[in-house]
Amino acid sequence: MTCSSTRSPFSQVETPAVGVSIEKLSKDFGRLKVLKEVTFAVEPGEIFVLMGPSGSGKSVLLKHIVGLELPTSGRVTVDGKDAAAEETREQVRMALVFQSGALFNSLSVYDNLALYPREHRVANEAGIREKVMHALQILSLEGTARKSPSELSGGMKKRVAIARALVMEPQLMLYDEPTSELDPVMSATISEIIATVKEDYHVTTIVVSHERELAFGIADRVGILMGGALISLGPAAELRSPQDPRVAEFLNPKIDLQHPRFKNLET
Ligand SMILES: Nc1ncnc2c1ncn2[C@@H]1O[C@H](COP(=O)(O)OP(=O)(O)O)[C@@H](O)[C@H]1O
Ligand SMILES: [Mg+2]
Repeated sequence: MTCSSTRSPFSQVETPAVGVSIEKLSKDFGRLKVLKEVTFAVEPGEIFVLMGPSGSGKSVLLKHIVGLELPTSGRVTVDGKDAAAEETREQVRMALVFQSGALFNSLSVYDNLALYPREHRVANEAGIREKVMHALQILSLEGTARKSPSELSGGMKKRVAIARALVMEPQLMLYDEPTSELDPVMSATISEIIATVKEDYHVTTIVVSHERELAFGIADRVGILMGGALISLGPAAELRSPQDPRVAEFLNPKIDLQHPRFKNLET
């Protein structure tokens, strides 16, 4: 565990990393039980990777941390404060990097990054420019400032989405499938960026991914969600020889043409 605070390169304020606690979190959508008494804590300054098959509830869990979903039962706290409370988002700076990037194609890359600081009047236009250009520089994106996101490759869009989050000077960075739809080299690059951002800013980092390499490469600890329950929690190294057959199958599925899985899929 690394517990730390740092001086953000953007501002002159000390920015302490924050912890996240998920306590017996259950979430139902009507009759669908998506999360079932999930409990774990993420330490300040840690990189926690949440893995699990599609539909296991990973994105729904992330949305609880930023207050976009409310628990059916249980509790989520960020820095000891209720994640569902409006004040928490005023007191703790969190940034969620969506799977899609959620960039505005009608705005230039520069204006996408400047949107949040302009809306919240965090600085005058010169100050905002400094923050935006610094974030672009960290991610080697200076050349894209005037372009529309629609002109960029998939990997560049992901980097722009990360740069936009950095402009918020977050204490907590959440990434939802940051390497989806990328080739293996670009996936490795994004993993390096996530680890570098964590080192430079000492942000607590939670990454949702089903990519083994990302988990083994950058995670301090890994949780595995299956069917809405946390079936595994521990250091990434422990996953190299998992004891639980469900975890082994998830991380290292063998193609079996004698007993093909699709014959047993539910309709
Ligand atoms: N707002 C919603 N209303 C109803 N069902 C939802 C909603 N959001 C997610 N779900 C369902 O919850 C389950 C888990 O979704 P999600 O967290 O997106 O999975 P993933 O692990 O792939 O990120 C899925 O069955 C999904 O259809
Ligand atoms: Mg998802």
